[in-house]
Amino acid sequence: MRLLVTGGMGFIGSNFIHYILEKHPDWEVINLDKLGYGSNPANLKDLENDLRYTFVRGDIADFELVSELVKKADAVVSFAAESHVDRSISSPEHFLRSNVIGTYTILEAIRKENPEVRLVHISTDEVYGDILDGSFTEKDALMPSSPYSATKAASDVLVLGWTRTYSLNASITRCTNNYGPYQFPEKLIPKTIIRASMGLKVPIYGTGQNVRDWLYVEDHVRAIEAVLLNGEPREIYNISAGEERNNIEVVRTILRIMDKDEDLIEFVEDRPGHDLRYSLDSWKMMRDLKWRPRYSFKEGIEKTVKWYLENEWWWKPLVNERVLHPTPWKLG
Ligand SMILES: NC(=O)c1ccc[n+]([C@@H]2O[C@H](COP(=O)([O-])OP(=O)(O)OC[C@H]3O[C@@H](n4cnc5c(N)ncnc54)[C@H](O)[C@@H]3O)[C@@H](O)[C@H]2O)c1
Repeated sequence: MRLLVTGGMGFIGSNFIHYILEKHPDWEVINLDKLGYGSNPANLKDLENDLRYTFVRGDIADFELVSELVKKADAVVSFAAESHVDRSISSPEHFLRSNVIGTYTILEAIRKENPEVRLVHISTDEVYGDILDGSFTEKDALMPSSPYSATKAASDVLVLGWTRTYSLNASITRCTNNYGPYQFPEKLIPKTIIRASMGLKVPIYGTGQNVRDWLYVEDHVRAIEAVLLNGEPREIYNISAGEERNNIEVVRTILRIMDKDEDLIEFVEDRPGHDLRYSLDSWKMMRDLKWRPRYSFKEGIEKTVKWYLENEWWWKPLVNERVLHPTPWKLG
């Protein structure tokens, strides 16, 4: 199988490529990534001399480039997106280009150049908005709250429309918050580990009551593999481990594992539109594709803290003003 992965230099994409090339020694991967702020070439440095792996620097909104690559592929797994909610508040237009025009370009390239190719479009639980009780199923309405989730929702409906009209073989995955190795230091879990290890205060937005459903990244990439191989065209699959925690619990757990004092916690001004709780029902994924998460939050977070503490070489060069600023959504 020859896979075109977009956004493979980011957090989840690089975990996916590592997993796929280890699990399927006869597969090849082409990784198309524009090397935006979420990316880091160090994530896949170990594959530089692997003949099964090719890196192409470019934009998913570049029709000619995407067309050339799509022609060579048996399947496309599309992670590429502007993904940081804080940044979408200060600069929403970049999100329209990558998430909406980029997805449109991939669909058009497939339609015109290789309509048989399989597409897995990676989306997010944030497209449903927040929910106070219960969990969203794949049939629930889209009710995004931020420029990030609005542009992800737009990309999902483009995939559905193109799949129906042009009979494309595409599925959509929507997963909950991921954590694990290679996650960019601006996100809650790495930021907490990094700031605590530097002896800095750990900022928590608002009162820390916002609930997220945490999924260890390795469980996510196994789920994507299952959808790639056995998912049905035009179907949406929610992916969740059912491990809900509010932000304050997440931060306290990390500080406990690191043997750090809770005095490091500092409550800061909440970001606008901050969703209170996300929760997904992933029964369909379990019933139809026999996927199950392997890691509890306790196991996953211990592995994650250990990885960051042992891989300072990876995150040190990435410590920027957004990691150091308590309310980065206010930065331009
Ligand atoms: N991280 C999470 O918790 C999470 C949860 C649910 C869904 N997702 C989805 O998973 C996907 C990957 O998320 P991530 O956390 O790995 O993000 P990330 O920011 O770490 O990586 C995104 C990658 O896409 C690349 N990219 C962005 N725009 C591009 C473009 N126009 N052309 C080419 N490359 C481009 C970036 O350079 C980066 O390498 C995204 O689609 C995101 O919406 C993430």
